[in-house]
Amino acid sequence: MTSRAPLPPPVAALFPPRDERERIDELLGRELAEATARVVAGPVMPTLERERLRRELEPFDFARPRPLEELIAWAIGVMEQGVVHMNNPRYFGLFNPPASFPSQCADRISGAFNPQLASSGSSPAPVEIEAHVIRAFARRAGLPAASGGHFTTSGSEANYTALVCALTRAEPRFGTDGVRAFPGPVAMYTSRACQPAWFKIAHHAGIGRAALKLIDTDGSGRMHVAALEAAVKRDRAAGVVPVLVSPTAGTTGAGMIDPLAECARIAREHGAWYHVDAAWGGAALASERLRGLLAGIETADSITIDAHKWLATTMGCGMFITRYPQTLSEAFRVTAEFMPSSDTQLDPYLNSLQWSRRFMGLRLFLSLAAGGWEGYAAHVERAAAVIERVKEGLSARGWTIANDSALAVLCALPPPGAPPVREIVRRMLESARAWAAVAIHEGRDVVRICATHGETSEGDVEALVGALEAACLEPTVAEVPR
Ligand SMILES: Cc1ncc(COP(=O)(O)O)c(C=O)c1O
Repeated sequence: MTSRAPLPPPVAALFPPRDERERIDELLGRELAEATARVVAGPVMPTLERERLRRELEPFDFARPRPLEELIAWAIGVMEQGVVHMNNPRYFGLFNPPASFPSQCADRISGAFNPQLASSGSSPAPVEIEAHVIRAFARRAGLPAASGGHFTTSGSEANYTALVCALTRAEPRFGTDGVRAFPGPVAMYTSRACQPAWFKIAHHAGIGRAALKLIDTDGSGRMHVAALEAAVKRDRAAGVVPVLVSPTAGTTGAGMIDPLAECARIAREHGAWYHVDAAWGGAALASERLRGLLAGIETADSITIDAHKWLATTMGCGMFITRYPQTLSEAFRVTAEFMPSSDTQLDPYLNSLQWSRRFMGLRLFLSLAAGGWEGYAAHVERAAAVIERVKEGLSARGWTIANDSALAVLCALPPPGAPPVREIVRRMLESARAWAAVAIHEGRDVVRICATHGETSEGDVEALVGALEAACLEPTVAEVPR
């Protein structure tokens, strides 16, 4: 027997011993809590200069290792200065939340175990937990008990999945022949106020961007039902195959809910899949007071809900929910001898777009289990109440409210004589006092104010209203120390 050299030791920088990991973990927790406290009190906007960051990155040629402790401090510092802070309660911005603490714990847990969620053979517990949460949301939306679905990285992936299901159901030969299998060009319908990722989805699914039919809104930001019906009928008469009707429940710009029941009726009458994009607004299902706004969602063939929006999990936690899980099995079927498959109806790699998957669903499971529906109801109702306060504050200062959403998005128009909306928002962002966006609602620029932060206070609302008022007067200088 030849004598062999012993195996080299593990790379300690990548796999440190247990006591070192515990020490770093503790340090990380402390540093993050302190950084979060600074972020809450500091400016919302990034203060880091890109040029400076590039210079700081130059010495990272990775030729020599550096201590992790030092790197963690550097990374936290860069994050503190280099992002728009969703953690700041004066961020009234896009649908990006500060993450619930249980969802942050979930990321830590799934990072530590790093399970492969492609199959229930390798991850029986995570796959069951995810399926359980999906069923809970399906029931909450009023879908039948046999409904299913899966977690996605995003609302875009969930909406893409809806289109693939629609095509698969509409034409059994779509899976082998693609859109050539249809007797004519296909079309999908949503409103002008839809989230623009639908263009990419139409492109990637192979139906083409021109197949996305954007229906006019009715003057209030909701899909015009008569226009939808007329468009579908006109298209069918011309040989087009309508495959999908997708109203939005909580439009990105103005939080409007399309007439769901009417859209469902039109989809049924013309043999199209009825998908509700409730990426953000779906969180209202948690609230007994607000869920009635989503009436009509219960007949959906499928629904998109993003937990990383109003349900405040860490990023990358969408859901695709469907009453026809068998269509998912058909759309994503594949054979791979090497996979430890044990449940063809449930295994994520056989029922969704992704193969290797992270344990995304634990973020929502822990948040929902810790807070209950009751906790989430209080969270979304609180956000709606924050927006009511903003509405009162701005109305008292001569602003006009342009949308009539009962959800937590406000579109506001400045008083007569004020600078243009884009200038007002630019000035406010420059002042670093609060963050809001510009949106276009029914053809007009509006200041779009959205409450997603779970801890926004009356003082934060006053800061926003005050910042907008100041921005109407004079260009402001930075008031928060940088
Ligand atoms: C209504 C709606 N649908 C879909 C999306 C896309 O979701 P994601 O950013 O998770 O891809 C958004 C994003 O804001 C949205 O508002």
